[in-house]
Amino acid sequence: MPRPIEALIHTDALAHNLARARAAAPDAKVWAVVKADAYGHGIERAYAGLRGADGFALLDLDEAQRIRALGWRAPVLLLEGAFEPRDLELCSRLDLAHVVHCSAQIDWLAAHKTQAPHSVWLKLNSGMNRLGFAPAAFRAAWTRLNALPQVGEIGLMTHFSDADGERGIAHQLAAFEAATRDLPGERSLANSAATLRHPQAAADWVRAGIMSYGSAPDHPAHDIAHWGLRPTMTLRSKLIATQRLAAGDSVGYGSSFVAEQALAIGIVACGYADGYPRHAATGTPVLVDGVRTRSVGRVSMDMLAVDLGPVPQAALGSEVTLWGVGPQGTRLPIDEVARAAGTIGYELMCALTPRVPVRAVAA
Ligand SMILES: Cc1ncc(COP(=O)(O)O)c(C=O)c1O
Repeated sequence: MPRPIEALIHTDALAHNLARARAAAPDAKVWAVVKADAYGHGIERAYAGLRGADGFALLDLDEAQRIRALGWRAPVLLLEGAFEPRDLELCSRLDLAHVVHCSAQIDWLAAHKTQAPHSVWLKLNSGMNRLGFAPAAFRAAWTRLNALPQVGEIGLMTHFSDADGERGIAHQLAAFEAATRDLPGERSLANSAATLRHPQAAADWVRAGIMSYGSAPDHPAHDIAHWGLRPTMTLRSKLIATQRLAAGDSVGYGSSFVAEQALAIGIVACGYADGYPRHAATGTPVLVDGVRTRSVGRVSMDMLAVDLGPVPQAALGSEVTLWGVGPQGTRLPIDEVARAAGTIGYELMCALTPRVPVRAVAA
């Protein structure tokens, strides 16, 4: 018998969340961001839910090939562009649009032999300070690109650092508008947080990543219920043992949890070798038979312990929802688990390990 742990990918929920991106930015086209193997969901599984997007945005050429292999003929965008000159050959062959964020990428294009001009997105560094041309160098880069026979349409893009927080986007939006004024071409600025919180920056294309995967980009300020999003990944397992603790008994490595009174606990077949965060402290929410309870003690490699106080009927084989959708439509947003572990939903969904079987389901 395999261990009872599994992950489910909810394709209807992916489609629902994509529709939320469209509703938030009704005049924009939507790039479904599927980098990092669709945020851990698996590109092929996510495709079933996200194929209603206008384009797919990703990083790896390998992922671009997988999208094309699924029969996708519409736009594909490489968010970091080419990593070396020969990447441009695959861009030509697979008709991939690509970001141009530095002069070396323009040099490579100038030396590239291609029949069909490439669609490129020139990236402005408006304050994130990761990728992109500084405002003072942006126009010269555009002029150089525009003169190349290898280049067709030139889109204009930037990326916000604080769309999810208090600082907001005004300073970067102003820098983008100043640097791109009078330049032709489509614009793309907004990630999920900007799409939801600052729809005035939606422009021609939004880039919907985390919101498509049922995580609130600005948690804990807002949760997925607030944004009308649905969980797209469930991690679930079962109780493989139960224990009765007396007052003073401890649980797990380091005896970090000590029972103050008699307590029934369940042992779940899920640990950090499955991708469950080891830093999830005692008190991390978990559902047992759809009832909300908490973890107790340290997460170990293959197991963790949960308090069965709120679920006295729980027994060997009871269903445990680590995040996502539980029995009878109960829900445990991944953001709550991430918060208890000092991280974000993005990291948890990307961290599922290969030993966890994953299945796509509609609902
Ligand atoms: C350039 C770019 N655009 C869009 C996204 C999507 O962001 P999010 O998942 O926050 O929507 C990312 C992700 O980090 C990105 O790097």
